[in-house]
Amino acid sequence: MPLKSRITGTGSYVPEKVLDNFDLEKKVDTSDEWIIERTGIRERRIAESAETTSDLSLEASKKALQAAGVKPKEIDLIIVATMTGDMPMPSTASILQRKLGAKNAGAFDLNAACSGFLYGLSVADNFVKAGTFKKILLVGAEVMSKFIDWKDRTTCVLFGDGAGAVVLEATSGKRGILSTHIYSDGNLWDFICLPGGGSEHPPSLKTIKNRMHFVKMKGNETFKVAVRTLEKLVINTLKVNNVKPSELAMLIPHQANLRIISATAKRLKLSMSRVAINLDRYGNTSSASIPIALDEVVRDGRIRNGEYILLEAFGSGLTWASALIKW
Ligand code: ACO
Repeated sequence: MPLKSRITGTGSYVPEKVLDNFDLEKKVDTSDEWIIERTGIRERRIAESAETTSDLSLEASKKALQAAGVKPKEIDLIIVATMTGDMPMPSTASILQRKLGAKNAGAFDLNAACSGFLYGLSVADNFVKAGTFKKILLVGAEVMSKFIDWKDRTTCVLFGDGAGAVVLEATSGKRGILSTHIYSDGNLWDFICLPGGGSEHPPSLKTIKNRMHFVKMKGNETFKVAVRTLEKLVINTLKVNNVKPSELAMLIPHQANLRIISATAKRLKLSMSRVAINLDRYGNTSSASIPIALDEVVRDGRIRNGEYILLEAFGSGLTWASALIKW
């Protein structure tokens, strides 16, 4: 049997503070009814001002390592998928490495926005398949609330903070990651962006005044591309693995909008009881949404050994990605 990677432990963490739609009604011109009808979101978690992306990552990672029975010193590599890292440098992965005491691990961040976790899964899977590393800690973590314009009702109602982590280990068995798929269309970069603070618009009084350090999104345009793209993506991912939609135990989608998720499930003729949902409680946690949802279904016993699960995501870049796993 050729070498494969298998997820041997999952963990997640969300901050304690809850911000519900009624709280948002007091901040911007919106309503609980509009938010639920257009997105499916009821509430989201918000980090404390001192809480960082590496803090959230640490809590999720400790649980994933415990579930896998792996000690921090055994980890060969740490990847943190994030677009809201503690600071531009060093990487949040290096900060997490110190906090965990994972002194034998290489560490780097990866930014593919909401598709980040699945991009990370693809990178980690290929490192394992190549025989480079045996044990990898992959985290998707975001503190979105510090990069949201709380005066912009078109974005501030959508996002939340959280972290999810998985431990990947080498295996020669039949269970594990069967395939990963990553894509991008940079022509549509301005559909979702955070324009300030990089080399194009370095931080200045002007970038602050123009609110360029906050997420901007063309929501409706993004919505249409997301639905079309994800429908094709999930069908192709199953096809290359010769797996029928009826053989799927669970779909674990990125949690941006319940209407996007329902459209994908409908294309697969999958009942919503077989779709992992957490955006009602956490909003869009970007790269954290899939590993949090995965951790929830694993801990609830909703997936059993040997079952097929399909993961898919869509986000800024634009980027999109998927993975098929035999659990
Ligand atoms: N409350 C009340 N009204 C609102 C709000 C709000 N919070 N936000 C927008 N509206 C208004 C708009 O101003 C507009 O009013 P108008 O008709 O008078 O102009 C109306 O509601 C409809 O706005 P749309 O943007 O057309 O609403 P839509 O149904 O498209 O829903 C949403 C918006 C929820 C953002 C949706 O388009 C969506 O989910 N898009 C995809 C997001 C996504 O998948 N992003 C990728 C991941 S994110 C990442 O990578 C960081």
